[in-house]
Amino acid sequence: MSNLSRLLKESWTLVEEQQDKVASYFYARMFLNNPQLRDLFPVQMDVQRSRLLGAIVTAVQTFGDPDQFADYLEALGRDHRKFHVEPQHYDIVGDALIEALRTFAGEEWGYEYEQAWRDGYAAIARKMIEGAEADSANPPYWHAEVLHHERRSRDIAVITCRPMLPLEFRAGQYVSVETRYQPRLWRAYSMANAPRKDGSVDFHVRAVGAGWVSSALVRRVQPGDMIRLGAPMGSMTLDRRSTRDIVCVAGGTGLAPIKALIEEMTRANRTRWVHVFFGARDRDDLYDLDCLNRLAARYPWLSVVTATSDDPEFPGEHGNISQVVARYGPWQDHDFFVSGSATMVRATLRTLAEMQVPAIRIKYDAFGDS
Ligand SMILES: Cc1cc2nc3c(=O)[nH]c(=O)nc-3n(C[C@H](O)[C@H](O)[C@H](O)COP(=O)(O)OP(=O)(O)OC[C@H]3O[C@@H](n4cnc5c(N)ncnc54)[C@H](O)[C@@H]3O)c2cc1C
Ligand code: HEM
Repeated sequence: MSNLSRLLKESWTLVEEQQDKVASYFYARMFLNNPQLRDLFPVQMDVQRSRLLGAIVTAVQTFGDPDQFADYLEALGRDHRKFHVEPQHYDIVGDALIEALRTFAGEEWGYEYEQAWRDGYAAIARKMIEGAEADSANPPYWHAEVLHHERRSRDIAVITCRPMLPLEFRAGQYVSVETRYQPRLWRAYSMANAPRKDGSVDFHVRAVGAGWVSSALVRRVQPGDMIRLGAPMGSMTLDRRSTRDIVCVAGGTGLAPIKALIEEMTRANRTRWVHVFFGARDRDDLYDLDCLNRLAARYPWLSVVTATSDDPEFPGEHGNISQVVARYGPWQDHDFFVSGSATMVRATLRTLAEMQVPAIRIKYDAFGDS
């Protein structure tokens, strides 16, 4: 562990148990120092729901060497243009962060700790600002018209929209989405198709529990509505130079980016076998199986295995999809794409580690904290 990482981790333990208080103080400080910043945040803003402080703390602690994460941080800076974040805001946020940490850390807080957080934050902010500046030819977000909205199960919808201006992305990436029902509340959704000539984009959305944005997308949004999309992000894209066969593991709407990747391969692939494992609780949640089966019937290189964890009569595999993948294989020589809930992704990564799949061959996106 580098000296910087050690200082960041050590100092965080001083405030860790008072995170809620640190967060309240941080936002109060930030809005007091610059009241206009309040307009950048969601209307109903309870501290638990706001993600900024948690995101910064995780970023500063994880990205000890920001150059190593340059692509991600530059994309995050580009994405932040949708919040109307300007370069000068970074100092205001950084100062509020340090003040909040210092206030709650008590007497053990010292110069070394403060400098470590300042250095870590400044290096990350620099990369984000560079990313935003390099993107000035693009709009800060894209208005998109909803063309189709189809309910595929109790709580899943497939939505097709068309951005008003060209939106360049790669299969496997995601964008954040905002609806008019929850202004300034943005959530990430993966494009479920490879780029098309008409520019339209599909999303597969599952309404989760009391989820604000997912419920609006599944239950309220209709054709003709306008939604807003942030800049494309994510690196779960196809390595076109690789000749290895591919295994895709999708849980529920985690199928979205996998479907985009399959679509990309239907345009070029002749030589790589692609095995898709698609799992859900019950058959109702295997919402796109007909389409997957049609693709598998048409492309000899594509095979699909489906599994349910909670549907004993289902005529396919049974169990969690991570366990099902382990029944097939061996997989040491394959490229992997894994996408779904954090629990599902974690379980699959564990299985793959046990099966000796090198981590470098695995790309994944977890739909939540992993
Ligand atoms: C990179 C990335 C790509 C994503 N792509 C997709 C996608 O293609 N399709 C899709 O449907 N979702 C996708 N998600 C998840 C999506 O961004 C939202 O997190 C999800 O829709 C919930 O948002 P919300 O505003 O409705 O819920 P929130 O208001 O954020 O949360 C409400 C409550 O639900 C709980 N909750 C949040 N997420 C889940 C969950 N997955 N399961 C159970 N409980 C949950 C929260 O803990 C909270 O208590 C993706 C996430 C990431 C990070
Ligand atoms: C080191 C600097 C920063 C990092 C690493 C960072 C990272 C993040 C991340 C990862 C999210 C969550 C996105 C999501 O899941 O939806 C977020 C949200 C947000 N960020 Fe940043 N951010 C930084 C600086 C800033 C600055 C300077 C501003 C300007 C005020 C800002 C404004 C916001 C807003 C408004 C949100 C959404 C509201 C919320 O949910 O809290 N961020 N940030």
